[in-house]
Amino acid sequence: MTQRHPIGVFDSGVGGLSVLRHLRTQLPAEQFIYLADQGHVPYGSRSATEIIQFSQGMTHFFLQLNVKAIVIACNTASAAALSLLREQFELPFVGMEPAVKPAAEQTKSGKVGILATGGTFASDRYARLTAKYAQGISVQEDPCVGLVPEIEAGRLDSPKVHHILQRALAPMLAAGVDTVVLGCTHYPFVLPMVAEIAGTAVSIIDPSPAVARQTGVVLRRDNLLADTTQSGSVRFVTSGNASSLARQVEQLLGWNGVVVETAVWAKEQLSLIGYP
Ligand code: DGL
Repeated sequence: MTQRHPIGVFDSGVGGLSVLRHLRTQLPAEQFIYLADQGHVPYGSRSATEIIQFSQGMTHFFLQLNVKAIVIACNTASAAALSLLREQFELPFVGMEPAVKPAAEQTKSGKVGILATGGTFASDRYARLTAKYAQGISVQEDPCVGLVPEIEAGRLDSPKVHHILQRALAPMLAAGVDTVVLGCTHYPFVLPMVAEIAGTAVSIIDPSPAVARQTGVVLRRDNLLADTTQSGSVRFVTSGNASSLARQVEQLLGWNGVVVETAVWAKEQLSLIGYP
């Protein structure tokens, strides 16, 4: 029965955990396989071609594990690969995009700030998004270079993180931005510092609860919701270091003692699609 099959969730690293925690809360009966491509993190500075290859490799990996749907818990991978994956594979994909539309609807000053990766900002998908939803709104962007590696290293309140966020937010605040979008799934883990720098007059949008809700909508639409009241589970896989990911999950989500598998898939699946 397909309803009992797992849901694949992937990101370049730990960012997608910010989505996974909402998926677990909102869809407690589902089985999840969380795949962190930490052998290739960060994605933000990579080419779209590379990110497409990694995303195809991970999709092949998930298909071998009979997933019923895939959540791309990564804005950068969604920007580069979502449309193509939807064309190439039959199963449903839930992707992400910076929350430009809600920010544009919500701002009173008409000025919004977007924190996302360089890859997301450079994508056609992002250009279409701002052209469609941010007409008449001033959009200020910052790629927060160096922030993802700090978060991967578990340094959530280091002087470097403070410096990166201060440098990104200061011009936005000076320009009168009243709404800031966390357009990269890693960034909710530094939300306390974003809030401290931005101050209480600025709203911060974290789209991850909405992505979990959308996953429920898609599963219901396709009659794929788990047909059981038993509690689901999460299986963790990384193309990086297994014990590091176990520690990161503990630090970031407070989930103790998770078992993490190392992904032989990375090399096998990537060679399958011709990646050297
Ligand atoms: N977490 C990812 C995102 O949402 C990508 C971060 C990275 O690897 O640069 O964009």
